[in-house]
Amino acid sequence: MPSSVMRTSRQGDHRPSPTAVSAVSAVGLRKSYGEKLVLDGIDLHIPAGSVFALLGPNGAGKTTAVKILSTLITADGGQAQVAGHDVATAPDGVRAAIGVTGQFSAVDGLITGEENMLLMADLHHLSKSEGRRVAAELLERFDLTHAAKKPAATYSGGMKRRLDIAMTLVGDPRIIFLDEPTTGLDPRSRHNMWGIIRGLVSDGVTVFLTTQYLEEADELADRIAVLNDGRIAAEGTAEELKRLIPGGHIRLRFTDPASYQSAADTLREVTRDDEALTLQLPSDGSQRELRSILDRLDSAGIEADELTVHTPDLDDVFFALTGPADVPNQPKETVR
Ligand SMILES: Nc1ncnc2c1ncn2[C@@H]1O[C@H](COP(=O)(O)OP(=O)(O)OP(=O)(O)O)[C@@H](O)[C@H]1O
Ligand SMILES: [Mg+2]
Repeated sequence: MPSSVMRTSRQGDHRPSPTAVSAVSAVGLRKSYGEKLVLDGIDLHIPAGSVFALLGPNGAGKTTAVKILSTLITADGGQAQVAGHDVATAPDGVRAAIGVTGQFSAVDGLITGEENMLLMADLHHLSKSEGRRVAAELLERFDLTHAAKKPAATYSGGMKRRLDIAMTLVGDPRIIFLDEPTTGLDPRSRHNMWGIIRGLVSDGVTVFLTTQYLEEADELADRIAVLNDGRIAAEGTAEELKRLIPGGHIRLRFTDPASYQSAADTLREVTRDDEALTLQLPSDGSQRELRSILDRLDSAGIEADELTVHTPDLDDVFFALTGPADVPNQPKETVR
């Protein structure tokens, strides 16, 4: 398994430098539930002001990691600092600096959105007037003012999730943990949530998110770690992770066995699938390479029935790092 990937500079990269102050750092975090080892030595370093995404299959330990770092549970071993405070010895310091939006909603459905917000304001010891001001401001920011006086049970999933995050922001945390913030949201609500998260980041908030959506990590995260079997299987930018796995390819499908055979003879360096009459060639997907392949087929008078170009994406990384490769590579982009 590939281990950590080195940081590389990117054009337009405005992430903090590696020497920047850590919002979250952890060394050798371990946690078991009974016999079950969930985290087997996790190291993390998340610079302040960045977005970090923890990916992993169901049951990998993402929520467990979030709970340890947010002091909801204690680790069996290792150390972690959040906002400069040790989670084991200074949990109050950690709690004062963070906000947590759990995987499962903290919204109380029986009371209104506004009442949920005011309850959070009370928990943060804001005065009545300050609480009302902050609640109104956040409800407005999360487009919930129109529903503020309605019981939260009547909210849609997307509205509830927005209220959940609004509640998390009442104490003005500098670091927020979002455990699967967009699970169950429709594509539009998901994009809205991404906008909200980007807004937090531009305000200087550090975001630690877990997600099942590779696309989400790709969109939002400065750095991504893939958790598997209790360990970080790989860590890096989306681009770095994509480079860890075998590159793209071109696939040509034929219906006529004679054309299939001629193409295999013409192109030579191909992987054959004689049953599916499909040929696969390694490729960087560039226009030049595609043209060269098509030219060779054309000059041999061969026409493929279908040509697809596959470029590796984070799904491929996820499948490659988190289990048996029993999911076939699906073409991502059909050229013709
Ligand atoms: N309180 C608990 N008692 C016993 N086992 C637990 C407890 N909490 C979690 N586990 C187990 O620890 C493992 C990791 O759970 P965790 O919730 O951290 O996974 P996850 O990566 O968040 O999964 P998902 O993607 O489904 O949310 C699972 O096998 C789970 O059954
Ligand atoms: Mg979870």
